[in-house]
Amino acid sequence: MRKKLIAGNWKMNKTPSEAMELVELLKNKVKDSENDVVFCVPFIDLDIVCDILKETDIHVGAQNMYFEDKGAYTGEISADMIKNVGADYVIIGHSERRAYFAETDETVNLKVKKAIEKELNPIVCVGESLEQKETKIGLDFVRIQVKCAFKDISPEDALKVTIAYEPIWAIGTGRTASNEDAQAFCKAIRDTIAEIYDSSTAENIRILYGGSVKSTNAKGLFAMPDIDGALVGGASLNEDFEKIVNYNK
Ligand code: 13P
Repeated sequence: MRKKLIAGNWKMNKTPSEAMELVELLKNKVKDSENDVVFCVPFIDLDIVCDILKETDIHVGAQNMYFEDKGAYTGEISADMIKNVGADYVIIGHSERRAYFAETDETVNLKVKKAIEKELNPIVCVGESLEQKETKIGLDFVRIQVKCAFKDISPEDALKVTIAYEPIWAIGTGRTASNEDAQAFCKAIRDTIAEIYDSSTAENIRILYGGSVKSTNAKGLFAMPDIDGALVGGASLNEDFEKIVNYNK
């Protein structure tokens, strides 16, 4: 039985003092959830957020990392740095990083491997554009993204990865995929994992949905058999996040 995971992706929002305020507000409301909870915050907020959450089982994650260990990579952050500050998750390959910061399937794969080596839990994002959806190549595109992300990763390590299916046309648009469409893509992703590995790996890996998830649509999405939680953007920045986390209370 897969445990649900609700991850907030704050994106480029909240200064450290604002982060402190939001986490203090949400902490007690989400800490006893039966679902796994992760706050994926800007690098500059990791320290304060890890500190506030250290006595709880709420996890903290970064939103990106570099695939080298250390060195002359101005402006980059390593897996060791993220780990050392107390975080244990990292989002990799978000569509915004692919679109604006030249993230490729190859760098996603390098980052996933490095995150696993350093014992960080990667949340790997995949998802099709509106054009790909309209020309009906979305599913093929997403399957290729999954295959590239898992290249040369053992079945044992694959289980350390969470996949987030985030259709680009649904991100920040208020236009959520229907429960059935989100389920169909998450199922296709699970089938792709079964093709790469085996049915047991596919059955056990967690697959999230992301794209305009709110407290009003979370329950329906989470009732789908292949949707194991959500990666939440806008609604993770306010009290709606608590309602999503506690959707089954
Ligand atoms: P929204 O929930 O704001 O649509 O963002 C989704 C997302 O990109 C999470 O990573």
